[in-house]
Amino acid sequence: MKVLVIGAGGREHALVWALKKSPRVSEIVCAPGNGGMAAIARCVAARLGDLDDLLRVVAAEHPDLTVVGPELPLSLGLVDELRRRGLAVFGPTQAAAMLETSKSFAKRFMQRHNIPTANYAVCASREEALETLGRFHLPLVIKADGLAAGKGVLICETKAEAEQAIDGLFSGKLLGTAEKTVVLEEFLTGEELSFLVLSDGKHVAPLVPSQDHKRLGEGDTGPNTGGMGVYSTDAMLDDKMRDWLLHHVAQPTIDGMAAEDTPFSGVLYCGLMMTAKGPMVLEYNARFGDPETQAILARLDSDLLEALEACVEGRLSDAEFRWKPGASACVVAASGGYPGSYTNGHKITGLDEAEKVPGVVVFHAGTTLVDRDVLTAGGRVLGVTATGNDLPEALKRAYEAIGKIGFEGMYYRKDIGWRAVGK
Ligand code: AMP
Ligand code: GLY
Repeated sequence: MKVLVIGAGGREHALVWALKKSPRVSEIVCAPGNGGMAAIARCVAARLGDLDDLLRVVAAEHPDLTVVGPELPLSLGLVDELRRRGLAVFGPTQAAAMLETSKSFAKRFMQRHNIPTANYAVCASREEALETLGRFHLPLVIKADGLAAGKGVLICETKAEAEQAIDGLFSGKLLGTAEKTVVLEEFLTGEELSFLVLSDGKHVAPLVPSQDHKRLGEGDTGPNTGGMGVYSTDAMLDDKMRDWLLHHVAQPTIDGMAAEDTPFSGVLYCGLMMTAKGPMVLEYNARFGDPETQAILARLDSDLLEALEACVEGRLSDAEFRWKPGASACVVAASGGYPGSYTNGHKITGLDEAEKVPGVVVFHAGTTLVDRDVLTAGGRVLGVTATGNDLPEALKRAYEAIGKIGFEGMYYRKDIGWRAVGK
């Protein structure tokens, strides 16, 4: 089979790496790909935010299966267009992807279907938001309704901060475009858990659990980022809790979407807060997490192609999953200055040495291959990923490997997995 993978990040490199292991995959094309994907597959130019350009790539390549990585092409309706042409594509339709692309839609959906989530209010104007503010305790969470590349969630400690956030979102000062709707939300405390399930629109199959580290600084301090590292162990989620999440979160979400005539197939990412009162959904994503996917697929022992195909063909209940026991960890190496401004084009050294450490694979995110050199080309540059018999071993390997890698301004957190290892 010829598979086309849409995307340019660490998540897509991990998808390509896992798909390549399938005996039934004969060719992989990446659009647009990155320096890591270029080493193991063919990359073709493509603009992820341009539907016509992506359709042009599909028409030129004739893939047997297209796998859509990021949210932007989902939000543009790429899956709908490909299905209309009778092509096999892994990912949700534009309407189903609204679980991610509109937070007000997601909150109302959860309320309709009794899926546990924080108390909230949807406000359609600055005045309404300022008025509604008083109904919430502090701190309070204010969210832009639409996609905001990880910058749309503001945790406000004081009323003045909340007023400023509301002003900034509605005026456009904060995100560049003026929001028409914002969500005010109760602040929850607890440990976060990324619970990803595959779905064919009817059935669900859980992937192994993981925990992201969204803050830039050690001890979970500093600004939010796309994710600075992830770990995955079975101990994060016992069987009883996994079943609870399947029955109270994942399956009701899939059933609810089907009942509303917008069936969801693809990967449903449930971002959870494990509160003292039980798990609550913080957000949905309609795609694989990044960098969760790097740590999750490092543990997958069965055929990814078979699983994705089972989703596309509506027969996920027959699919088999095998996982490596033990643990995995992914440590992100970022450009100095990220998530603010940074410079590109710095040569990355030590990649081959790093991959000699047992159990290690280096997934590329913002990199590009120029002649034989791998250069930095983004904020998050690499996801150094390792498996091990337990979490300390996986972390030791990932850190040993990242210690061999260098580029100007490289930054990474030294404490990935600290909540689990510190216990
Ligand atoms: P999101 O973009 O919705 O994933 O939110 C980004 C991050 O903001 C989450 O991973 C949480 O760390 C935090 N967050 C979102 N909603 C809440 C909430 N209701 N209470 C506490 N933290 C939240
Ligand atoms: N790692 C968080 C996300 O993929 O949204």
